[in-house]
Amino acid sequence: MDYRVYPNSKKLASRLGFGSWQLGNAEFWSPMTEQEGVMLVKEAVKNGITFFDTAPGYASGKSEVILGIALKDSREQVIINSKFGHRADGRSDFSSASIEEAIHESLDRLQTSYLDSLILHNPGKDILSGQTDHFKVLKKMQEKGLILAYGVSIDSVEELKLTLENTDSLVIEIMYNVFHQISEEWLNQAKEKGVAIIAKVPLDSGWLSGKYDQFTVFTGIRDRWSFDDKKRRFDLCQKLRFFTRDKNLTKYALGFIKSIDAITCIIPGIHSMDHLLMNLEFAEYDMPDSLKKQFIKLYESEIKNNPLPW
Ligand SMILES: NC(=O)c1ccc[n+]([C@@H]2O[C@H](COP(=O)([O-])OP(=O)(O)OC[C@H]3O[C@@H](n4cnc5c(N)ncnc54)[C@H](OP(=O)(O)O)[C@@H]3O)[C@@H](O)[C@H]2O)c1
Repeated sequence: MDYRVYPNSKKLASRLGFGSWQLGNAEFWSPMTEQEGVMLVKEAVKNGITFFDTAPGYASGKSEVILGIALKDSREQVIINSKFGHRADGRSDFSSASIEEAIHESLDRLQTSYLDSLILHNPGKDILSGQTDHFKVLKKMQEKGLILAYGVSIDSVEELKLTLENTDSLVIEIMYNVFHQISEEWLNQAKEKGVAIIAKVPLDSGWLSGKYDQFTVFTGIRDRWSFDDKKRRFDLCQKLRFFTRDKNLTKYALGFIKSIDAITCIIPGIHSMDHLLMNLEFAEYDMPDSLKKQFIKLYESEIKNNPLPW
């Protein structure tokens, strides 16, 4: 496993992190008991994963609760990144006056006294362009020792530019995968500023495993694609298969992101021991440059000017 330094921390972040949206989340994925979730997280730690991404809104607080139980004994080795903006009771609340209270709620669920980082969970452009006092409040939370670093979770290069130009964020979580690429020039600018870049949705919500097709029926949060969206994704996966000569694309999807030096951590969403063990194995794969170039070329010729919906 490779590790990277993490802002304002003495701990090292594993490049393969753990996306915890799925932990205990029966609403959007198949059911998982608290005990199963705890076992999954403990197994991740045992295998060297030190970066965990969560949020109060994931499984109505259950994701943070499971992490709290599972990470109690290893707290000083692991990095917990949580979010602000969507509360455990389902309310969206971006009021800067609520930040401190929301942090305390997260700390209670996580059974800890500090967060390694807190990021704003898809904030509006007014916040990203520095027109509000959110980053002042975050700085205060840092001075109080409640959080060690702060930043944002965003989706696009436009938001990345706004964040880098207008905020002192040191952690930026951004949608990044083979189907949602961002020029390395922008990622390198972030790296030069000492920003940790976290690649979220690295498997394109599972599509880049290669296991779905246009007829796959999704429930929960993934019931959002039209037949045409699914057909387009399937056809793109077929093209990736032609390059890789492999049916299972997960290794290449993770390897592609790992090859981008400016990316600190990759956080596939994990809800089974099989996923975890496979991802740990695939995290060792180094993608050859020739294959990486084919993946970039496919994005530039078929997706860049006609982006896929999330
Ligand atoms: N706004 C935000 O801040 C935001 C938004 C989205 C995600 N996130 C974070 O990013 C993490 C990852 O995003 P995501 O879960 O939406 O998308 P993702 O990581 O791209 O895809 C997750 C899905 O991929 C499949 N999968 C995972 N490992 C696999 C493996 N080894 N082999 C085959 N399939 C595998 C599973 O699908 P099946 O269930 O079909 O098996 C899983 O549900 C989340 O857990 C969360 O921590 C943050």
